[in-house]
Amino acid sequence: MENYLSGNLYSNTADYYDYDNRDIIKDDLDFYVEYANKTKGTILELASGTGRVSLHVAEKTSRHLECIELSKQMVNRFKIKLETTHKHLRDKINIKIGDMADFNFEHRFNFIMIPWRALQYLPEQELTIKCLKCVYKHLEDKGLFVFDIFKPRKYDETWLGKEDISYDITKEGKRIIRSTVNHYADTIKKTIQYKNKYKIIEGGGERVIEDMLTYKYYEHEDIAGILKSLGFKIQEEYGYYDKRDIKDGDEMIFVCSK
Ligand SMILES: C[S@@+](CC[C@H](N)C(=O)[O-])C[C@H]1O[C@@H](n2cnc3c(N)ncnc32)[C@H](O)[C@@H]1O
Repeated sequence: MENYLSGNLYSNTADYYDYDNRDIIKDDLDFYVEYANKTKGTILELASGTGRVSLHVAEKTSRHLECIELSKQMVNRFKIKLETTHKHLRDKINIKIGDMADFNFEHRFNFIMIPWRALQYLPEQELTIKCLKCVYKHLEDKGLFVFDIFKPRKYDETWLGKEDISYDITKEGKRIIRSTVNHYADTIKKTIQYKNKYKIIEGGGERVIEDMLTYKYYEHEDIAGILKSLGFKIQEEYGYYDKRDIKDGDEMIFVCSK
């Protein structure tokens, strides 16, 4: 498997990423602000995408952010926002095109975050470990590292081929139907693939654009074991951004220190 898959960088679908209007895309925003506020100094965000979380955190904390993102298409969307709707945050945010598994700064950070399952876009465990080692190296001794991954489901024949509509909205004269189409699961390597599909209906015509997303998934014991082996301590863990017990939610959110 190639290390970096163009699907995982939203090469075809980046322009549609911000149409998502589901609660799960809003519920994490203040969670990251809350933990950022427990620290001071410049914040590091890995795989910052179109700046969905970065812009909110910069606005609410008035802190400076360093953002790393590998997809040129996602960075392009982020930069457009900084030039238009979020001009006032231009001086607070610095975006670098780079790999979350291999980055280097001269200084360390008190707060590092990887929101919205982005760590799982590293499709192999060795890359996750590389990334977490880089995070450890860049985290101040009393700093916090917060990230979220999804809780694995059952990837059997009922999962395969299933299409689920995530949302169906009409905006700016376009009807956009976003769905996921389950494509492949490797339960030994613990990876799944699904198509990130957008059907766009506009001016009497329709077109479909899609990217194949490949996720590495982790059972709780897998990720907790990796964190521990690298020297992280799990300070808090939750099943959703409302802080419900980790056993009860669809997410696994970790607040870690050294
Ligand atoms: C689900 S999106 C999350 C984006 C953003 N953090 C958010 O919460 O909206 C995952 C992001 O990871 C980025 N990505 C994938 N592989 C990456 C890598 N190796 N290094 C940096 N970013 C990567 C993708 O381009 C995408 O923007």
